[in-house]
Formats: sequence, structure tokens, C-alpha cells
Amino acid sequence: MVSTPEQDFDGRTPDLEDRTIVLTGATSGIGRRVAVVLADRGATVAAVGRNEERGRELQATAADAPGDIDFHRTDLADQGAVRELAAHLLATYDDIHALANNAGLASSERTESPDGIELTFAVNHLAPYLLTHELLPRLRESGDGTGNRGGGTAANGGGTSPARVVTTSSGLQDRGELDFDDLQFEAGYDGLAAYSRSKLANATFTVELAERLDAAGVDSVVANCFNPGFIRGTRIWLGSSWRSRLLTWLVAWAPGVGTDVETGAARLVEQLTAPKYGGRNGVYVDEGEESPPDPDARDEAVRRELWERSAELVGVDPNWPEAVDRER
Ligand SMILES: NC(=O)c1ccc[n+]([C@@H]2O[C@H](COP(=O)([O-])OP(=O)(O)OC[C@H]3O[C@@H](n4cnc5c(N)ncnc54)[C@H](OP(=O)(O)O)[C@@H]3O)[C@@H](O)[C@H]2O)c1
Repeated sequence: MVSTPEQDFDGRTPDLEDRTIVLTGATSGIGRRVAVVLADRGATVAAVGRNEERGRELQATAADAPGDIDFHRTDLADQGAVRELAAHLLATYDDIHALANNAGLASSERTESPDGIELTFAVNHLAPYLLTHELLPRLRESGDGTGNRGGGTAANGGGTSPARVVTTSSGLQDRGELDFDDLQFEAGYDGLAAYSRSKLANATFTVELAERLDAAGVDSVVANCFNPGFIRGTRIWLGSSWRSRLLTWLVAWAPGVGTDVETGAARLVEQLTAPKYGGRNGVYVDEGEESPPDPDARDEAVRRELWERSAELVGVDPNWPEAVDRER
């Protein structure tokens, strides 16, 4: 179930003081729990969400925590708002040690964002693409610094303390199809298929970003993605069709299959803070186990196409992190 304020602080020793983590989707579900756990460990959490009331309530729960939760209300469907958010975050935080692209939605009806883009693709994939693009320079400066905690050692599999871009994908990524002739489901929209496509895009984006960071010689940032598991009791399926709601409810409550918010949240916290993931770049972690993502996410031509189409849709130069000639 969604955690309540009474469950929140457990008096752990803060070990993330001086760390700033940007977390989208912080107002509900696993993101809300992650925000609380990180603040409990001393981090400053820039918590992004759309719902003002849930955001203010979340911020208030951290009043006595060792760290802080600053709520930043933003509709990630709107690219102008994503740019404003990024500018505000850059002006507010001198360091950004991690970005968790965790916000997500599923929708039974095909609707469009203020920019005229299919909403699931806009929020679940393009917003992470654009926000990462905007925050990457600060992440690069913040990674590998002496103030960074959570860095590993060669012995425990870490070895470095880079900044992290963590994107919440899903086990449904391997059901997704990236149809470049109709990326936005103008024909034959299906909510579950659109959601699965967006989650495959998350994995494809992550692998491509990791490769580009490597190719550009950037060792102060790593990019990884993960599947938190089928979580009981979050809001993600509320906007989807009754068929999807029934299906996902059955899976989430199936013994040995579904899991709870606490476990899903712990998986994201681990991605953001565990030393071993500071030493990994471009991996997909499926319910705690590294595992190859869908073949599309590993296909160079598919990755490049998605990257370039995404750049065009958000209006940025596709040559980022910087102009690296990727001979393929
Ligand atoms: N639940 C599962 O079984 C499951 C399984 C695999 C992966 N995931 C992934 O886990 C992540 C978190 O999902 P959850 O289950 O915790 O869902 P949730 O309870 O529905 O939380 C979703 C979060 O995303 C935010 N969000 C949605 N649309 C937004 C928009 N346009 N602008 C800004 N924020 C927006 C919501 O903000 P507001 O509340 O402020 O509107 C909320 O904080 C998602 O990426 C989801 O795809 C979930």
C-alpha cells in the first residue's frame, strides 16, 4: 500500500547528507516512498509532481527529517514546463548528484500533450529525454566529486562515484514495439501497447545515453534503468481501461508475482545510492537482477532512430552529450 506519514521516518543514520537528488513522480506510489526514504537518509530531494496537494503533504512529512524534500510542481507533459523546471533546478541546486526519471502514466484514451504529442510517449519518454538533456551539464559537474557519497570501491563493485541518471522502466518493456512509422499511435491506439512502448523507449534511451556518455569520454555520469516489479496499490493504472486495470490487478496480486510499494521503492533507492550501480552504465535491472533489455534496446539502429526522433520532437540538437562522431 502507499505509505502513510506515520510509517515514514525510522531513525536511520543519515548517509546521504550533501547529496541532491531530483526525483520525478514523487507525489505518489513508489516515488513518494523513495522521497521519504532519501530525506530520512539526509538527502535533499527535489520532488517533482503535478498534484499540488499531494506535493505539499509530501514536503510537510520531511519537516523533521535529516534531509529536505522541496516540492516542484510541474506538468511533465508540457515541454515548456520541463524547460522551466530544469532552469529552476539549475538555479536552485549547485550540485545534482542524481536524476530519477520516475513519473509515469497509462491512459485508456489517446490524448495529446499541450505540444500535440501522444500523452503517454510525451510524459513517460520525452520528458525524461528532455529533462536529462537539460540537467546533464550539472550532473557531469556534480559526479565523481569528493562530496559524493555512495561511491563504491573496486572491492564492492563500485570503483567510482559518478552522478546517476536512473529511469524507471517496466517489465512490460519487452512487450513494447517501437513502430517508427507511427510512433504516436495515430492509428489503432491501445493504452497498454502505448505504455509498453514508452517503457521500451525508457530502456532504449538509457542504453543509448550510456553508450554516448562512454563515446564522449564522460566518466562522471552513469545511466541505468530498472523494473520495480508489478506493484500493488499505486495510481498508475487508474486512467487505463477496465481490461488493463483487471489484468494488472491480477498480476500485482498474484502470489509470488506482484510486490508492494516498499519493495518497488527500495529498488529505486538502490539504483540511486548503492555503490554497485555507481560502477554500472547502461544496464537494465529487472526486479533486482541485471538482465538484458528487449532486443530493440540493444539494437544500434533502433537506438539511434529513437534518439534522433526524440531530439526532433523536443527541439534539441541530437548531438548530445556532445558532438561525438559515432561511426556505425
Ligand atoms: N505500479 C507498477 O506496477 C509499475 C510497474 C513497473 C513500472 N512502473 C513505473 O513506476 C513509475 C512510478 O509509478 P507508480 O506505480 O508509483 O505510479 P503512480 O502512483 O501513478 O505515480 C505516478 C507519478 O507520476 C506523476 N505524473 C504522472 N503524470 C505526470 C505529469 N504529466 N507531470 C508530472 N508528473 C506526472 C504523478 O504525479 P501526480 O500524482 O502529482 O499527478 C505521480 O507522482 C512509473 O514510471 C511507472 O511506469 C510501475
